Amino acid sequence: MKTTISIIKADVGSIVGHHVVAQPLFEIAKDRLENAQKRGLINSFYVFNAGDDLELLMVHEKGERNSEIHALAWETFQQAAEKAKDLKLYGAGQDLLKTAFSGNIRGMGPGVAEMEIEERGSDPIVVFAADKTSAGSFNYPLFRTFADPMNTAGLVIDLSMFGGFKFEVLDTKENRKVVLKCPEETYELIGLIGSSTRYSVSRVWRAHDDLPCAVTSTTKLSLIAGKYVGKDDPVALVRAQHGLPAVGEILVPFLHTYFVEGWMRGSHWGPLMPVSLSDSKCTVFDGPPRMVAVGFQICNGRIASDSSDTPMVEDLFDDPAFEMARREAVEMAGVLRRMGEFQPARLSEEAMEYTTLPRILEKLKSRFQPA
Ligand code: 13P
Ligand code: 13P
Ligand code: MG
Ligand code: MG
Repeated sequence: MKTTISIIKADVGSIVGHHVVAQPLFEIAKDRLENAQKRGLINSFYVFNAGDDLELLMVHEKGERNSEIHALAWETFQQAAEKAKDLKLYGAGQDLLKTAFSGNIRGMGPGVAEMEIEERGSDPIVVFAADKTSAGSFNYPLFRTFADPMNTAGLVIDLSMFGGFKFEVLDTKENRKVVLKCPEETYELIGLIGSSTRYSVSRVWRAHDDLPCAVTSTTKLSLIAGKYVGKDDPVALVRAQHGLPAVGEILVPFLHTYFVEGWMRGSHWGPLMPVSLSDSKCTVFDGPPRMVAVGFQICNGRIASDSSDTPMVEDLFDDPAFEMARREAVEMAGVLRRMGEFQPARLSEEAMEYTTLPRILEKLKSRFQPA
């Protein structure tokens, strides 16, 4: 039996600017998914938020890119967007960029990460979801987790990881992809994914048996819309333990903050702050960019549940161990914000292509003189 884990997310409107998903939208999502569970379409679900992004985590047996699962997510987002419009919430329907649904939600605005797995004896899963950033923000932690022996002790200690891991890297500019194998191609991998605004790690497999280990959403909203429409706010699924990095090795890259693209108006670098679900709401300069992590066990096609059939989901960044990263993030936020609109606080000119910068240049066009 194969089990599929799907996380599909969208910003369909939020309360008080780009701060947080409003309660009525959660209720719509829970009702819809509960109904789908009763109908037998999905086996388990968990609804949560990353700031203003509504996150639908679904476990089922329909495989990846299944049109019924994608339709369920699309219709849920549409209904939630209607509610957001009624309530005049901010950015209602923001990420629903296309109208005609034709079986696959990919390329329509919402972010998708899906992994079909053959269940192992025990399968711990970590889901990451971020707000105010873009797909490339997973490059650094996924590299540390699956390729850096100074991060992941298992790469040195567990013989079943000695064959290394394969990374699929997406070139979002040219819309092409390449698979690189670590440790042999570590330098080439860093060469590409160090450019996190262009290249994103989209999948990771264990090299010796092609076991799926990680998948990320790689939607670039601005490339779909051709203009700035909000940030990608990506999600990732990572599988842990027993011949794969331990949950703790997947979380330890977040011991310190690091810089990601996408803060305020999608136009600034910001320090990533790992937060609990209760702190998953952006404030300062619409940030700082935040990441939540939820963990669960897969059990016979479902999320392992308690005696009242409630999925058991752990809020992994709800831990004082991440206080240092949070404090660093606030300090770095102070340094960057003191710089205002001066690089490197603001993104490079190329990354500003989809903001209002082209309009400023257009306005000044006739006044430029040869120098
Ligand atoms: P407004 O121009 O509606 O204020 O939007 C700015 C913004 O929040 C960009 O996402
Ligand atoms: P979101 O992509 O989270 O809606 O943020 C948009 C923005 O511009 C915030 O400043
Ligand atoms: Mg928003
Ligand atoms: Mg968002």
